[in-house]
Amino acid sequence: MATDWRRWVVYQIYPRSFADSDGDGVGDLRGILAHVDHLARLGVDVVWLSPVYRSPMDDNGYDISDFRDVDPLFGTLAELDELIAALHARGIRLVMDLVVNHTSDEHPWFVGSRSSRDSPQRDWYWWRDPRPGGTPEPTNWESHFSGSAWELDERTGQYYLHLFSRRQPDLNWENPQVRAAVHAVMRWWLDRGVDGFRMDAVNLISKDLALPDVEPRPGSPYGRGDEHYVCGPRMHEFLQEMHREVLAGRPGHVLTVGEMPGATVADAVLSTDPARRELDMVLPFDHVRLDHRAHRYDLRDVALPALKKTLAAWQSAERGWYALYWGNHDQPRAVSRFGDDGAHRVASAKTLATVLHLHRGTPFVHQGDELGMANAPMRTIDDFRDIQALNFHAHAAARGDADPALLAAMGRMSRDQGRTPMQWDASPNAGFTTGTPWIAVNPDHATVNAAAQVDDPDSVFAHHRRLIDLRHTDPVVTEGDFTLLLPDHPRVWAFLRRGRDAELLVVANFSAERVAVRLPVDDGWAGAETVIANLPGEPAVPEPTLRPWESFVVRRGR
Ligand code: NOJ
Repeated sequence: MATDWRRWVVYQIYPRSFADSDGDGVGDLRGILAHVDHLARLGVDVVWLSPVYRSPMDDNGYDISDFRDVDPLFGTLAELDELIAALHARGIRLVMDLVVNHTSDEHPWFVGSRSSRDSPQRDWYWWRDPRPGGTPEPTNWESHFSGSAWELDERTGQYYLHLFSRRQPDLNWENPQVRAAVHAVMRWWLDRGVDGFRMDAVNLISKDLALPDVEPRPGSPYGRGDEHYVCGPRMHEFLQEMHREVLAGRPGHVLTVGEMPGATVADAVLSTDPARRELDMVLPFDHVRLDHRAHRYDLRDVALPALKKTLAAWQSAERGWYALYWGNHDQPRAVSRFGDDGAHRVASAKTLATVLHLHRGTPFVHQGDELGMANAPMRTIDDFRDIQALNFHAHAAARGDADPALLAAMGRMSRDQGRTPMQWDASPNAGFTTGTPWIAVNPDHATVNAAAQVDDPDSVFAHHRRLIDLRHTDPVVTEGDFTLLLPDHPRVWAFLRRGRDAELLVVANFSAERVAVRLPVDDGWAGAETVIANLPGEPAVPEPTLRPWESFVVRRGR
């Protein structure tokens, strides 16, 4: 078991979609318990468990009504303890999703806060009077889930802020009692045996107190208020306080991952510089927003150089440390978005994995990535479940804009694509449930499934296992520096990792064409040892002709 956290690989479980043990169509903790050996076989070091807390499930559990209990939909606290023990017995750590930018509107803190203007908890959330002129809402900020970011509470006559759904009111981190309450929750979980936190939208916790308006989007009274709350004025102070109050002095290593939409490289470097004692790593968004124009369903093609340079920018900063990922429960399937989910699904899934795992940072494998799971057919509005997609569509429909092009874009980009059930085998419902799944299983599970892959040395699963092994055994993968080669090449992604005693050369063809390339490296690379490759044969370095979606890593001493 690797002890240096920088060598760890994280596997994300979205519990609703992983495995259902009781036939209600929704995944649960017993389902996860039944599959811990799958994780051990893959060799991952950490599981990030998306929320299983009590929740009205307005946003599938990212709206928490009790931070210290498990929702009955997923099981019990005792089962969670069992899961922690089962993972620990296999050398795997458990990281909880800490969602503390907001709570559910059913959380007792908000219920108290909402009860009257004089409630002692009033100031735990963002309450403001309606304003004369402009929008009646206190600012013209738009929620990430469409419409105003403010909701009027009729009874007390004030608006509260919700950057996400109206059932996810934002906590007021300016109030020290709120911060102390969050710290207490974190300590409670650490005492229970969890090994860290993935902190949801943690760079939104500090808002500009002036609450200024923003430029509205064309045709809308609202605009994205990002500039007034993304990595806001007190964020670093709050993170340092959290470190001091909760993390410092804990035995072992408490892993901390800050989800930071809209953070710059400079923000990430500050947040992850060990000397500043904030977080271990930042989960960035730059690469998954390259294909967005105004919003996630307004798509454009991304040229490979832009993608390569985005990831390279995370590598150059000496002190920054990033979570590396292609997909998660908020993103479509990697192989459909960045690879080729047709003729080259297997080769491109392996190549995506190789490139990701060989970057500097911590690789995150989203459940099903290790099988090369692809986007499912989603064509009508009834195929979608996600509040973000449904709200967006409803608002577009109200404007008369809900055209087939929008549905097509939703089919490609909806968060639901990262949430279709895990494909365990070829049986009906992919072995996910014996009931009716809460969201349709991808029909390709007849061929794309775990049972078909775990014993096959040529599978996407086996390829992931080799990459994870490589990170555990070769320090160059974690420690080596990084140089992007051929930054402007439209098809080839190549880079060097140079460690103290050895170096790795990573070469990948991100296209369905054959590509002959002269790599800008010395001839001493000829005959270097192949460490991993997705197609048979010895690569002809430094002048290979790459087959469609071919990739390899070669190694030499220094
Ligand atoms: C990020 C989470 O990953 C996403 O699923 C959720 O909707 C928002 N934060 C709000 O909690």
